[in-house]
Amino acid sequence: MKFLLFTLFGIVQFLSLASGKSIPKNKFSHKSLKEMKEEIAGYEDVAESLINLAVYGKAKNRSYERLSYFIDTVGPRLSGSKNLDRAIEIMYKNLQQNGLDSVHLEPVKIPHWERGEESAVMLVPRLHKMAILGLGSSIGTPPEGITAEVLVVTSFDELQRRSPEAKGKIVVFNQPFVSYAITVQYRTHGAVEAAKVGALASLIRSVASFSVYSPHTGNQEYQDDVPKIPTACITVEDAEMLTRLASYGKTIVIQLKMGAKTYPDTVSFNTVAEITGDKYPDQIVLVSGHLDSWDVGQGALDDGGGSFISWEALSLIKDLGLRPKRTLRLVLWTAEEQGGIGALQYYRLHKGNISNYSLVMESDAGTFLPTGLQFSGSERARDIMKEIMGLLKHLNVTKVFTGGEGTDINFWIQAGVPGASLSNDLFKYFTFHHTYGDTMTVMNPKQMNVAAAVWSVVAYVVADLEEMLPRT
Ligand SMILES: *[C@@H]1O[C@H](CO)[C@@H](O)[C@H](O)[C@H]1NC(C)=O
Ligand SMILES: *[C@@H]1O[C@H](CO)[C@@H](O)[C@H](O)[C@H]1NC(C)=O
Ligand SMILES: *[C@@H]1O[C@H](CO)[C@@H](O)[C@H](O)[C@H]1NC(C)=O
Ligand SMILES: *[C@@H]1O[C@H](CO)[C@@H](O)[C@H](O)[C@H]1NC(C)=O
Ligand SMILES: [Zn+2]
Repeated sequence: MKFLLFTLFGIVQFLSLASGKSIPKNKFSHKSLKEMKEEIAGYEDVAESLINLAVYGKAKNRSYERLSYFIDTVGPRLSGSKNLDRAIEIMYKNLQQNGLDSVHLEPVKIPHWERGEESAVMLVPRLHKMAILGLGSSIGTPPEGITAEVLVVTSFDELQRRSPEAKGKIVVFNQPFVSYAITVQYRTHGAVEAAKVGALASLIRSVASFSVYSPHTGNQEYQDDVPKIPTACITVEDAEMLTRLASYGKTIVIQLKMGAKTYPDTVSFNTVAEITGDKYPDQIVLVSGHLDSWDVGQGALDDGGGSFISWEALSLIKDLGLRPKRTLRLVLWTAEEQGGIGALQYYRLHKGNISNYSLVMESDAGTFLPTGLQFSGSERARDIMKEIMGLLKHLNVTKVFTGGEGTDINFWIQAGVPGASLSNDLFKYFTFHHTYGDTMTVMNPKQMNVAAAVWSVVAYVVADLEEMLPRT
């Protein structure tokens, strides 16, 4: 009943939006492409100034230097951890000291899971200590561990076909890496699928583009009606070896020990700062990254880099004394890694103002040398973005791709707001993603300078255009 009411309300709201009743005239751009081209050409000097400041001028290397100091002194920032609390406190102060407007924290309850001690040892056919990382939200094993025979499969289909063999075993998934979006399904749902056919635990081949014997952690999801079993990721190397051992007809026995525990939810915050618009302050261009990370490595790549180029975008604009017509809002999300918890809270709280959001941006796929902008939106909006990216010709980063995305902005994109992210070297990104190797060593100051320049030009120009990006 409640659902039906909401649905009816939604339809009425949609109809009134569609008929333009609740939208001020001229709010969403209706200009011709020629008129837009002329307007955007007027930003060439501003774009040059932002680029010069970020790449060659006094802000050169600043996002890298700010990030390295922050990362080295705070460390990894797992949801529910003291480190994450400290990170938020420090960023709050940093943003205030930077003189940004309306610096504030928006509270949200987030999960608190800790991995504890963990190990996996292959006992049969030979003794082999395996590198593992428990998956976020996994339960632990009993203290003596789970010792069981192994069933190795390469897909959910194979697991279905061989389901009678799975009972009482540890299921190992050795799925090949196709793309993150496709392959991550095994990490997210492997434990549930294995438990459905009676497995005692599941081990998942790390979702990685490249491996030097590095396990990659990440979140996983239980299902209410399926027994919870412990689950961890193993290295690509071990997953492939287990497949080979099975093909030789060998019996494999593994002992898995995991001390993982889930504690009650804790209070955390989305960290927000603005450059308030001087003509349409209620209208928003949102620029973002997530401040939380996994507990291994330093969370430099995921997503320290995205958070710090997003802050840098506002810093650069402020350094030049610019104030766009609409508000540029920086959001540093909390608990993204646990499934976009902070972002979902923000969406629930702010979606009433959705008709005033021109563009949502998130950098959460690397801050290496960008190859362009990934953009989701209407064809008319895309044409405008192409013109804006043309302002970056001196950096040779002018391409507009499809598929603007980010866990934290997807709520808005799905509801029809144009969304943008940086196109990056994903092979490199998924080499280090969610591992002990996610440290400052993989970051590059010159690449961050360019990423920050692109981010600031896009954010500033969209925030300063006379009209909002069109939605149709
Ligand atoms: C910026 O970083 C690059 C690469 O590490 C370095 O060569 C250069 O000296 C740095 N420039 C400044 C101004 O710090
Ligand atoms: C929505 O916008 C109105 C005015 O445009 C503002 O007063 C209000 O605080 C906004 N609400 C949220 C949740 O941002
Ligand atoms: C959108 O912003 C306008 C001002 O630009 C304001 O009058 C209006 O209340 C806002 N609408 C919503 C839904 O936030
Ligand atoms: C510009 O970027 C493209 C890839 O987007 C690359 O192939 C080309 O070599 C670059 N040109 C220059 C001058 O850097
Ligand atoms: Zn991330």
